[in-house]
Amino acid sequence: MTVTVVSPHGGSVKARQALSDRFCSRLSTNDFLNRRVVSYQGNRKTPGLRWMKYKEGFSGALVAHLIAQENPCAVLDPFAGMCTAPLIAAGLGRRATGIEIMPVGIRAGMALAQAANGLSRNDFDKHASDLKNAIRTEDSASGLAFPHVRITKGAFSDRTEQEIARARRFLANMRDEGVRAVLDLACMSVLEEASYTRKDGQYLRWDRRADRPLRASVDLGHISSFNAALERKIDEITTDFDRLREQFGGGRPSLVNGSCLELLKDIPDGEFDMVITSPPYANRYDYTRTYALELAWMGFGQDAFSDLRQKMLSATVENKTKRDALAEFYGTHREAFDRAVRMYDGQCAIREVLNILEDRRDELSNRNVLRLIEQYFFEMALVISELGRIVCPGGVVIMVNDNVQYHGEELPVDFILSDFAEMAGFRCSTIWHLARGKGNSSQQMARFGRQELRKCVYRWVRRDDG
Ligand SMILES: C[S@@+](CC[C@H](N)C(=O)[O-])C[C@H]1O[C@@H](n2cnc3c(N)ncnc32)[C@H](O)[C@@H]1O
Repeated sequence: MTVTVVSPHGGSVKARQALSDRFCSRLSTNDFLNRRVVSYQGNRKTPGLRWMKYKEGFSGALVAHLIAQENPCAVLDPFAGMCTAPLIAAGLGRRATGIEIMPVGIRAGMALAQAANGLSRNDFDKHASDLKNAIRTEDSASGLAFPHVRITKGAFSDRTEQEIARARRFLANMRDEGVRAVLDLACMSVLEEASYTRKDGQYLRWDRRADRPLRASVDLGHISSFNAALERKIDEITTDFDRLREQFGGGRPSLVNGSCLELLKDIPDGEFDMVITSPPYANRYDYTRTYALELAWMGFGQDAFSDLRQKMLSATVENKTKRDALAEFYGTHREAFDRAVRMYDGQCAIREVLNILEDRRDELSNRNVLRLIEQYFFEMALVISELGRIVCPGGVVIMVNDNVQYHGEELPVDFILSDFAEMAGFRCSTIWHLARGKGNSSQQMARFGRQELRKCVYRWVRRDDG
């Protein structure tokens, strides 16, 4: 297979073409990999994993398939999302660790791990039935109102606010922490459905009935009441309960809430023989916006939102550079950091795209995309540099990611990250691409023509000599 790189602006493609010539022989398709399996869609019917719709996730079936193929002892996911990879790996008896910066995902993973490993069915049934009764009462529940932040104001009707407040009061008075974690997850996971909002890639989409000024709005049609949605969710959890043990009951994963840009540093050399992960894509999706309701539910205040956004891997135009802060954080133990600097600086395809975009700075819809691209790849270089240290010789990294384009210029994320991996001591064995890639946005298509962007799963093997 050959891939011819084209710049719609007539800019240089030399570096990207060289990268493509080097890696295109590793591109292949794989019958198992399709859109369903590499996305959350594959979890829609999976007991436990269907409780929280983490739209950016991959399926448990993908993780189980990869573990069956590679047979690892110790699995890490440094961008664990709702903890799919560590939950499945631990369920299969592997030592498993997940690092995730969004507390929403960690809360979901912990509740599921707990439900599968020792929570009493009787206790759950009793409290679930009490919660159902509590939300049906019509008394007021002052003092436990939903803790709104700016971005969530007006998300619920008055009636829904009251229903949510009753559920919050019930949870606040519960003593059984294990059951509370599961019921709390049940409530958190139906907030969107009962709201005037929907997650939509980069933003929350708002219904015009919302009580707030809106620049753009849609008609979401029927919106479920919180009570009805919660009762359905509790029934779903009840149905799943006895099947959890078989899938996730093999052990508890270690789930850590924090930034892998900092936490990887403390992991000993060669600690894992498999990494299964999917970092945020370089596509401007802002998780702190789309998960605003869930974060507010957890008590995140206004300042906590911006702190979290800045700590996440840079993938939005709002992210400021963390490079100096990371250099300071690494201090004198900075071998991995210095290697990341060399990896990033030695990668000419990123520079090539940045040069073209810098020349057309005035045409960009947002000039901060330049900073986004620089920071995204630098931070990914740091993560991959650390993986080169903590994955043992012969160990593998499997990474799911999409290519992106800005202003018509494609960034071959698959080849760039695989180049980083080879600089960090891995051999890129395969880049599986889905049979159908991702179309560019309608605006980009109108300006630069149709361009299909590869959606890929990479496999890197740690060399013995790296
Ligand atoms: C594509 S999602 C991964 C979803 C996951 N595979 C699953 O199945 O749920 C990327 C995740 O990376 C997380 N993330 C972003 N920056 C991070 C950081 N610095 N450290 C750890 N996790 C981070 C995001 O919050 C998001 O959940």
